[in-house]
Amino acid sequence: MSPPPLIERYRGDLGTLEPGDPVVSLNEGSTPLVEAPVISERVGARVLLKLEGANPTGSFKDRGMTVAVSRAKGAGAEAVICASTGNTAASAAAYAARARMRCAVIVPEGKIAIGKLAQALIHGARVIALRANFDRALQIVRELAAKHPIELVNSVNPHRIEGQKTAAFEVLDELGEAPQALAIPVGNAGNISAWWRGFGERGEAPLLYGFQAEGAAPLVAGHPIDDPETIASAIRIGNPARWEEAMDAVTGSRGRIAAVSDEQILDAYRLLASEEGVFCEPASAASVAGLLAHGMPVPDGASAPETVVCALTGHGLKDPDTALGKAPAVTGCDADLAAVERIVLS
Ligand code: F0G
Repeated sequence: MSPPPLIERYRGDLGTLEPGDPVVSLNEGSTPLVEAPVISERVGARVLLKLEGANPTGSFKDRGMTVAVSRAKGAGAEAVICASTGNTAASAAAYAARARMRCAVIVPEGKIAIGKLAQALIHGARVIALRANFDRALQIVRELAAKHPIELVNSVNPHRIEGQKTAAFEVLDELGEAPQALAIPVGNAGNISAWWRGFGERGEAPLLYGFQAEGAAPLVAGHPIDDPETIASAIRIGNPARWEEAMDAVTGSRGRIAAVSDEQILDAYRLLASEEGVFCEPASAASVAGLLAHGMPVPDGASAPETVVCALTGHGLKDPDTALGKAPAVTGCDADLAAVERIVLS
């Protein structure tokens, strides 16, 4: 049975679990760290891709969810709830099923990738499609969780961040040293905060490059965005819950928050798939898009990063519609050897 549950691998580092809590796990974490030769060449540094889509439900959310659901179960909760752009919903639904708990997820209607919706539904969650955006959905679940004995498992839940910081531990353990920089997409701003905490607990402080989609870039604008819009539906968020913590992390690291356009995201998405063999979802490609668009700015006197890790947060299969919409067409053919041969060799 491999890999071991993340909670067992890093139990001593997880501050929020109680000794008697059950381990609700799908053997998450221990994801591949893969060299990216083509992107490395373009960026002029060694670029490594942390494939968080290799987690059990296909995104990094599982790292936080194993801890949050284990604690909720240990505390006697019978149900969990979240607002989500899709991945948190899929992960909460899976871990709740595993824990034999009820789960409700509130998603912006028509705005989440189809694979994520399928996951939440097949795992048995109650799926509510809200006629509003993610930010409004998060407000509503916060109010509901304050009123009822239902555990909120969004990244405002401290157990989520504790679990997610293990991604930084894994990179440090595997490399044997810290990368000089981390590139990461930013939506609700939990994950960048978690990686920073993980590095900090090991005495490391790489530059953080956080990237938001241009139409949903409140941290870049410096104010909330009322109607966030981007093809990268996972990060279509206008008012991140961990705004201050994320900005403190970026400032503390002497890194940057910057925006990338949908076109830049899709170019990086296709580049990753066609030249590196890595299929991630559009939001994840924002990390690579940001490096390609903005380079790696360093503070005065600092030398350019030699190694940079890109967090590829979710699997490409989550969002087949975007892939099919952006890929070449299939070629139909009659069952005739010569005809097939012509097409294969053309
Ligand atoms: N990448 C993916 C694939 C995501 O699903 C998310 C967030 C992010 C990046 C951004 O991470 O919010 O911690 O800054 N998805 C949340 C969800 C909002 O509901 O699934 P963040």
